[in-house]
Amino acid sequence: MRHARIHGLGGYRPERVVTNEEIVQFIDSSDEWIQQRSGIVTRRFAREDETVIDMSEPAARQAMAQAGVSPEQIGVVIMATVSHPYQTPAAAPMLAHRLGIPNPAAFDISAACAGYCHAISLANDMVRAGTTDYVLVLGVEKLSDFTDKYDRGSAFIFGDGAGAAVVGVSDYPGIGPTLWGSLGDKADVITQREAWTDLRPQMEDPGREDGIPWPSFVMQGQAVFRWAVFSMAPVAVEAVRAAGLTPDDLDAFVPHQANMRITDAMIKALGLPEHVPVARDIAETGNTSAASIPLAMSRMLDEGEAPHGGVALQIGFGAGLVYAAQVVLMP
Ligand SMILES: CC(C)(COP(=O)(O)OP(=O)(O)OC[C@H]1O[C@@H](n2cnc3c(N)ncnc32)[C@H](O)[C@@H]1OP(=O)(O)O)[C@@H](O)C(=O)NCCC(=O)NCCS
Repeated sequence: MRHARIHGLGGYRPERVVTNEEIVQFIDSSDEWIQQRSGIVTRRFAREDETVIDMSEPAARQAMAQAGVSPEQIGVVIMATVSHPYQTPAAAPMLAHRLGIPNPAAFDISAACAGYCHAISLANDMVRAGTTDYVLVLGVEKLSDFTDKYDRGSAFIFGDGAGAAVVGVSDYPGIGPTLWGSLGDKADVITQREAWTDLRPQMEDPGREDGIPWPSFVMQGQAVFRWAVFSMAPVAVEAVRAAGLTPDDLDAFVPHQANMRITDAMIKALGLPEHVPVARDIAETGNTSAASIPLAMSRMLDEGEAPHGGVALQIGFGAGLVYAAQVVLMP
């Protein structure tokens, strides 16, 4: 029987640190409010010319180096992103080309803040089924391109960054069953405000008066908050149970870095033992959607907060609404 595990992780944060002081120049808010309500102190924004492919490259190289896997060994590249600004082609083939991965299956998936956990699940299934030996998974976002800096409800939340994982063959199981699902009736709770096609009339006739602003991502904060707190904790509990474990067995809890208060509420609802370290990368990285879990996990490993080879619970949730959770062995 073939098994799969995560062999290597990598992360990339853009250079520019953006403070709450900078954010509140454009919205009626304060550093104190943002820190209290979201836990965010700073976030990173990519350079104007820095793309999701540019950010993915160093994260992928780090994950491949940690895994000890060469480009030739990778058969599939999956990029989870909602901020690659081309409808087509996908970002994954271009990333694969840059990394020198010869002729892989390469495609993007759209599952917002749960994208990375969806991709890990797909990679696990592919490796176990024998489709390929190694899958390169990316969670990457340049959310600054899709944030309305004048929108009080979302301007302070989002950041940019990339996280990567190499999933590959293993002698023992390293990725537990995925608990996932979707609630399409709640599609309006987090959404791109307008469709690309809504821009077309004003592009064709710049003089018209019913123009629309740039289609940014907007959310109904309270609705997202309630859903995450009340509905996601049971999913997390079930993912641990499905792996044949209890919360006491965990060496790390790495929830999507949506809001520090959501994390705190989930810890309570889970009855997480105090000895389990919890990812709190949001304070310095903001909410980077698909990138947040691999970024937070690689930071915990790099800083010695979580042990290499330890058991981690990860859960992503976001626009769709969609979610996915699984227990993984950290590389
Ligand atoms: C966005 C979020 C931080 C707002 O926090 P909240 O506690 O729900 O805030 P509310 O919307 O209830 O507003 C509370 C008060 O703060 C005010 N407020 C809202 N936004 C504000 C801002 N940016 N700055 C200052 N005050 C603000 C409101 O006007 C309201 O004032 P009032 O009490 O006088 O009416 C929170 O809802 C959240 O994080 N939700 C989840 C978002 C998320 O995770 N998104 C990513 C999905 S993956």
